[in-house]
Amino acid sequence: MTTDHEWGQPEAGPGERSLDGVATAVAHPNIALIKYWGKRDERLIIPCVDSLSMTLDIFPTTTTVRLTPAARVDGVHLDGRLAQGEPRQRVIAFLELIRELAGRAEPASVDTHNTVPTGAGLASSASGFAALALAGAAAYGLDLDRTALSRLARRGSASAARSVFGGFALCHAGQGEGVAADLGSYAEPVSVPHFDPVLVIALVNAGPKAVSSRAAMRRTVETSPLYRAWAISSKADLTDMRTALRRRDLDAVGEIAERNALGMHATMLAARPAVRYLSPATLAVLDGVLQLRADGVSAYATMDAGPNVKILCHRADAARVAEAVCGAAPGCSAVTAGRGPGARLLVGDGR
Ligand code: PMV
Repeated sequence: MTTDHEWGQPEAGPGERSLDGVATAVAHPNIALIKYWGKRDERLIIPCVDSLSMTLDIFPTTTTVRLTPAARVDGVHLDGRLAQGEPRQRVIAFLELIRELAGRAEPASVDTHNTVPTGAGLASSASGFAALALAGAAAYGLDLDRTALSRLARRGSASAARSVFGGFALCHAGQGEGVAADLGSYAEPVSVPHFDPVLVIALVNAGPKAVSSRAAMRRTVETSPLYRAWAISSKADLTDMRTALRRRDLDAVGEIAERNALGMHATMLAARPAVRYLSPATLAVLDGVLQLRADGVSAYATMDAGPNVKILCHRADAARVAEAVCGAAPGCSAVTAGRGPGARLLVGDGR
């Protein structure tokens, strides 16, 4: 059993500033139990709905930001390779934001290592931008508290706002527009002591997704007649979820998470043209989850912008769940994640 205290939501402040213009940060992905889908401001990345997630203890991203005053442009490396195209542009736009906040102009080199397949609906952008926000803010000498850091991470990817925190985190969509919306949209930790479910991640396809979540959510918001209904019901789901978490009731948490995720995918299927991330293997895993429940195992599914399925269950059932769902979908492999820590800076040589 863990308590929230053991997960140590790290305090931010002067300790998160670098004196020599270089900083390395580690952040973990998170999986939303109440989903964020749809932006109401694409430039500021303001979500349409509140969301609630669990940060994982696997698949960390490690990012080093080093100021390079003698360079003419930023250098961006992703998993040891020079980044090109959109991934590079997103990192540079994010550095611009940090420089604006810090009132500085030096270029930087960014070196990121992911341990999760990128772009497969496995939240690599969440861990990626949370690590970049923390390392970048420290390297440029910005003194941000955790709320400000979460707001900053949100500007890279809304789900990244939640990976700043360990355990469970709630991301506020905020209200109003412009500066007010920006100020109001950030994540905060949700304390759920002595509740240790796991997510069995059933990997049915680790390749990059065909439609980016950015494009898919825009199309859903603009064209899906089901979107508004889901956004409204998601509010009620969040209220119910908070009660279920308070009670540490895994069956209630799982039921709410599953209906919220299926509802989100229904909005996409009703978009014009439809966005469909769920594959035949996804459905086979969902059948496996239903069978587990019929056999008396508490197991509940959630899916993001990709075909892979994350199954919430008790830690003691994880091996049985992994075996059952992988047996249901040929080619599937599974890895189990517990609740993990918030983003943190590495000091010295990082060990
Ligand atoms: O923040 P993005 O662009 O990676 O979008 C994430 C959206 C979902 O994973 C589908 C849901 C969520 O809340 O994480």
